[in-house]
Amino acid sequence: MRRPWVAGNWKMNGLHQTNDELLKGISSLAAESEIDICVAPPAPYWMQVVEALEGRGIKVLAQTVSEHASGAYTGEWSVGMLQDCGVSGALVGHSERRQLFAETDVVVAAKFAALKQAGLQPVLCVGETLEERQAGETLAVVSRQLLAVLESQGADAFDGAVLAYEPVWAIGTGLTATPEQAQAVHASLRAVVAAFDAVRAEQLRIVYGGSVKAANVAGLFAMADIDGALVGGASLIAQEFLAICQAARQRL
Ligand code: 13P
Repeated sequence: MRRPWVAGNWKMNGLHQTNDELLKGISSLAAESEIDICVAPPAPYWMQVVEALEGRGIKVLAQTVSEHASGAYTGEWSVGMLQDCGVSGALVGHSERRQLFAETDVVVAAKFAALKQAGLQPVLCVGETLEERQAGETLAVVSRQLLAVLESQGADAFDGAVLAYEPVWAIGTGLTATPEQAQAVHASLRAVVAAFDAVRAEQLRIVYGGSVKAANVAGLFAMADIDGALVGGASLIAQEFLAICQAARQRL
């Protein structure tokens, strides 16, 4: 049984005060032991969130990270800075980074490698646009995004990593993939990894993201290959995030 994994991607939302309110709202998540729970606040608030969650077993992730170690990269932050601030890993290849910041598969793979080298957790995000789905290209697109890491770093690079399937058309739109649509893609992604290493594929957590909320999460978590959720908007509402974590616990 794969350990359920739930993360809240706060995206570019929150200020000190609202973060405090949200952290208070999810304070009952303390000492979580059966599932992995993470939050990914904006970089200026890592330390606030790390300190607030200290000793609670909830990990803090960055929303992206530089593939470079240090130097003249204005506006970026490194894996060393994540470690220094108590941040456990980072999302890489989120569709908003791919689409709005022109991150390519090659860059995403380099970020993944930088995290692995530092012993931090990469959360590789893959997903197709609506046009790609309508053109029947879903599996080709998500496989290409996954293979960019698999082929360059091997299946062992996924030890401790998480793979997130986030259909772009379902992000922030209120349109969720049906549990069956998501399951089909998750199973295909697992098969891509299995072609490299069947054991690693069986162990890999593949989580779904895209308009996940308390009201639709149970159906998603009922699917065999959906091991958790990467939650955007609903993770900013304490009651919603608590309910999604509770649903993950019930998956056990
Ligand atoms: P929403 O849950 O707001 O659709 O966002 C999903 C997402 O992009 C999480 O990384």
